[in-house]
Amino acid sequence: MNHFLDLDTVPAPVLRAILDEAHRRKAARAGWPKAKVDADGPLDGWQLGMIFEKSSTRTRVSFDVGMRQLGGAALALDSRTSQLGRGETMADTARVLSRMTDMLMLRANRHGDLLELAQFASVPVINGLTDRSHPCQILADLQTLEEGGLDLKGARIAWAGDGNNVCASFIHAAPAFGYSMAIATPPGYVPDRAMVEAARARGARIDLTDDVNAAAAGADSVVTDTWVSMGDTGERERKQALGPYQVSSDVLDKANPGAIFLHCLPAHRGEEVTDEVMDGPQSRIFDEAENRVHAQKAVMLWCAGKL
Ligand code: CP
Ligand code: NVA
Repeated sequence: MNHFLDLDTVPAPVLRAILDEAHRRKAARAGWPKAKVDADGPLDGWQLGMIFEKSSTRTRVSFDVGMRQLGGAALALDSRTSQLGRGETMADTARVLSRMTDMLMLRANRHGDLLELAQFASVPVINGLTDRSHPCQILADLQTLEEGGLDLKGARIAWAGDGNNVCASFIHAAPAFGYSMAIATPPGYVPDRAMVEAARARGARIDLTDDVNAAAAGADSVVTDTWVSMGDTGERERKQALGPYQVSSDVLDKANPGAIFLHCLPAHRGEEVTDEVMDGPQSRIFDEAENRVHAQKAVMLWCAGKL
């Protein structure tokens, strides 16, 4: 079963093939109406079920539109208006939805719920964000960096702020793609130590620092994310601790000339990043958002056994 749960569990050649397919499919339908089915309609007749335990704009729309473009259909459930919110187990939900859909995507509060869904589903399961990771996002990010002319092998990616779920998926994919990372966080917001060590053991260079300017120095891309993720508590303390890690033009100027700024969005302008950087010439955030469609189409094709 081709579950797409994390970037450190999918083999490196598969990740490369997924990115190549994302580039190919994007190019093949340039300028087409957004709901027109790709020429080969490879998932004709397929039904995707999406489950959301948390809010979403990009993930929901990109999976829906992406599945349509592949020739299939998508439906969305949320935990509040489904029986999940009244205590039906993930295991039973998995068994039921496996009878009605061909593939599932879950945005979960707890990573363990994703694993439970995958354990009991008889169809492929895709991670649409958990408290631990956000693998689909990072595939779209890597596609955007390659479009910007970056060779991922040997590239340097700086992360500024909270060592959160998005940062984790960057760490997971580093050994497979051969980029190094400089991660600047305050103490207490450092990415999971075991995750960092696992990436290092697979050959990735992952540098940890508390100095955002030092992390940006020599980087080919600077990436950040919200200081308060969905489900986080202690908003005031977080904003205080993370305040010095804002990506401003000053920080971006420390990076290599033409370094690409990325943010998974939604952004909190004036907090983790300034308007000047968000709207500046080095920002590719809206290409990044669009690439969620293309990258996830390739993920769904792999899950379907068609890549
Ligand atoms: N980046 C991202 O996953 O956005 P949504 O929360 O809007 O899906
Ligand atoms: N780190 C953020 C990402 C949102 C797409 C969160 O988990 O809320």
